[in-house]
Order: sequence, then C-alpha cells, then structure tokens
Amino acid sequence: MSDALTLNNQVTLPAIGYGVFQTPPEQTATAVETALKTGYRHIDTAAAYNNERGVGEGVRRSGLDRDEVFLETKVWVSDYGYDQTLHAFDKSAAKLGVETIDLLILHQPMPQHFERTREAYRALEKLLEDGRVRAIGVSNFMPHHLDALMQSATVVPAVNQIELHPYFTQPAAQAANTSRGVLTQAWSPIGGITFYPGYGDDRKSVLADSTVQDIAATLDKTPAQIMLRWHIQQGRSAIPKSTNPSRIAENLAVFDFQLSDADLARLDALDTGRRGGPDPDETDPSTRDIAVPEA
Ligand code: A2P
Repeated sequence: MSDALTLNNQVTLPAIGYGVFQTPPEQTATAVETALKTGYRHIDTAAAYNNERGVGEGVRRSGLDRDEVFLETKVWVSDYGYDQTLHAFDKSAAKLGVETIDLLILHQPMPQHFERTREAYRALEKLLEDGRVRAIGVSNFMPHHLDALMQSATVVPAVNQIELHPYFTQPAAQAANTSRGVLTQAWSPIGGITFYPGYGDDRKSVLADSTVQDIAATLDKTPAQIMLRWHIQQGRSAIPKSTNPSRIAENLAVFDFQLSDADLARLDALDTGRRGGPDPDETDPSTRDIAVPEA
C-alpha cells in the first residue's frame, strides 16, 4: 500500500500512482487491473491519452469498490473554455464509467490563450463546488502560469503535475508549488522521457546513471525504486508507468527502505536543467486541433 499524501483541501491520495501515458487503449484495462491487483490505488490518465475507457474497465475488473481507487484525469486544451470544460468532465466521467472524478486537472497552460485556460479552470471550480470532482489542479504550470491563474482563481490548485526526475528537478517550480500549498506531482518520475524514442539521440537514460545505480547497489534496490523513494521522501506524488507486471510491482515496493540525506542530495545534484518534454511556454498550436471524442 502506498503512503498517503494530503491535498490542500484535505482529500488524500496515495503517493505512488499508476500512470498510463502511451499505454495503448486495448492494453489499458489489463494493465490497470494488474496494477490494482498489485496494490496500486491511484490511477493517472488523461482525456488525450485515449484510454480512459480502458482505465474504467480495469477498475471494474479489479472488483474493488469505486471509493477504493483514486482516479485522476486531465482536460485536453481543445476542451478549454467554461462550457467546453464542463462538457469535458461529462466525457471523461462517462468513459471512465464513474459519477465522480477524484482529481481533475488542466493538462497544460495555453500561454497564448490564457483566457481560455482561466475559463477552463473556472469550470473546474464549478465542478468542485458541485461535488462532481473531489479535487482540482493543473499540469505543466510554471510559476508565472500559476501567478497568472491565481489572479482570477478562487481555489488554489491541489496539484501541479510537472516533468520531474533526477535529470530535471525544476527547483523553482517545486518551490513555487510549495509556497502556494500546491502538491508537486512528478510525471516521468523515473525519467522515461530521457530514453523514449523520438526525443533525440543524445539522451542518456537516468536509469543508467552511475550515481543512481551506485545508490541502488548499496541498498539492494533498483534504480527505479531509488528514484521513486527520492520523490516520496521529498513529499512528492509520483506516477510511474509500466506495462510489465514485474516492473509494475517493483515500482510500488518502495515503502520498506530509506534514503539518507546524503543520497537525496546526490540525486538532487544530478539536475541538468534540461527538460525532456515540451516547454510549457511553447505549446505546439497544432495540439489544439486534437479533438477529444464524445463518450
Ligand atoms: P515498461 O512499460 O516496459 O516497463 P516514466 O514513468 O518515468 O515515464 O518511465 C516509463 C518508462 O520506464 C517505460 O518505458 C517503462 O517501460 C520503463 N519502466 C517502468 N518501470 C521500470 C522499472 N522499474 N525499471 C526499468 N524501466 C522501467
């Protein structure tokens, strides 16, 4: 079982969630069922991943009660705007097969159309007020995006999900989240983004990093477990993804050991300042055209 984190509205979520970014729709139900049977109780998906239906199916197949699983999903930018985002909730809830979504977040800011981002967030606030979602938040928001949002928002986001692994630790974004009471949630927490195909040939996998491997060997743990433990001890939520049953289990087995302060500092020192994923200020305008199908 994962240790729980408490959000700024007192809702709790398991620190380690199971991520399904890039999990093919037809494999998602089995992967989610495996994860839940392994002990995960938090699943992170997104409307744009096109696999919310599989997540819902996996939850039902697990036999767990709805309130035993924390479901998080994201509104895609093509659904930003007040009415559009209210409808985006309906689409996601129907695909997941649930009445209530535990955590609904904006997938990324739209820096060139920030008014629509604000309106989308206003819809999240309405969904929260109406009890359709238990918590709301954002993703890929840099400190200046949070500042801009808070000029009009009345509810502080519970979560900001950002790229975060030892090669890209975003200390300024983490500090901005913490100072506002926003939980930092790490996407690509074990650095998958550092070795995914298509992200450039000069990348070095953080899983193969000698410092990470050295700490892992000393503690008789795997590199992935070392990174996930680093997130937990620094108070972050992390959502590793894997479709391999033994790695799914490995990534949850991180609650029976401790990293020393020196080890945490060695991991922090690996930061390169270089992001693996897209810059949130340079959103490719074509992504706005990717429509999220009706339920
Ligand atoms: P696979 O699905 O074959 O396990 P991230 O969550 O940081 O983006 O990383 C996801 C990537 O890391 C996927 O390619 C996944 O592949 C791989 N992965 C997940 N867990 C582990 C692990 N424990 N050890 C090694 N690779 C892993």
